[in-house]
Amino acid sequence: MIEVNRLLFKSMRYILSSTDLTEEDIGNILSLASKFKGGYRENLKGFVLLLFFEPSTRTRLSFEMASKKLGLNVSTMTSKLSSMEKGETFIDTLMTVESMGFDLVVTRTPFALFPYKEITENVHIPIINAGDGSNQHPTQALIDLYTLRETLGDLNGKRVVYIGDISHSRVFRSGVDLLSRFGLRVGVCGPETLIPADLEKLGVEEVFEKVDDAIEWADVCIWLRLQRERQKEQFITSEYEYFLQFGLTKERCERVKLFMHPGPVNRNVDIDGDILYNEKSLILDQVKNGVFVRMALITYVLQSRTS
Ligand code: CP
Repeated sequence: MIEVNRLLFKSMRYILSSTDLTEEDIGNILSLASKFKGGYRENLKGFVLLLFFEPSTRTRLSFEMASKKLGLNVSTMTSKLSSMEKGETFIDTLMTVESMGFDLVVTRTPFALFPYKEITENVHIPIINAGDGSNQHPTQALIDLYTLRETLGDLNGKRVVYIGDISHSRVFRSGVDLLSRFGLRVGVCGPETLIPADLEKLGVEEVFEKVDDAIEWADVCIWLRLQRERQKEQFITSEYEYFLQFGLTKERCERVKLFMHPGPVNRNVDIDGDILYNEKSLILDQVKNGVFVRMALITYVLQSRTS
């Protein structure tokens, strides 16, 4: 283990929201992620539990890969196999795995973890929120910030617009907080029925009705997934109409400077499938960076526990 990391880390047990991270934490985590990307290695000891109660490809697998690259033992529990299927509560599940001796729990839940008090008062091992309902996805926000910094260099005054289903997006809610704290100007664009109120309070500077205006304004556009599974009513007329009005079409892509998407993508609803990985796309960079950012965060959280 490298000594310098220990000195940087403060007490930090729960990463349930992007607001649990200070600017200093974020700077340290992103620097460490760059070191991991450059080939630096850590050899940690401990047991990580991935408690994934919702489908996931990139978050779950990248946490698994990140943990294994750090030398940690990893177990995974899904909702169908857990005793929550038999009525056990989430908090009892967390207290149970703490008693077994796990050192870190990473959770993905269809429900919001908010209010956090019940968790922080009863569970005494680090917890990383890997996405909770429509509420927060702090590790995706870290990845997006890292990818933007890697691509754009100086972030101050650069413009990013989130496009699509803003209301149901935990990626947006964590992202707007981190991006605006690091000097980026943030806009949103989407159907009126999928734009929440009080955006100014979150740090949003511009709300665009027309996607073409948003594209012209932004240095980077982040398309979001239309979250059918969280929509209990019809917010749009049809997916075809939504794509025509708000999607990334081939014609629009000619005017986009760069684009991102946290995934998974609804091809031909969020983005035209033919241009998903073209030269303006940072989507696979986001996925690749996800492993290094999560290695850094896991190291940060586990070492802060012992320092
Ligand atoms: N971005 C993201 O959270 O993707 P997964 O649902 O595949 O983990």
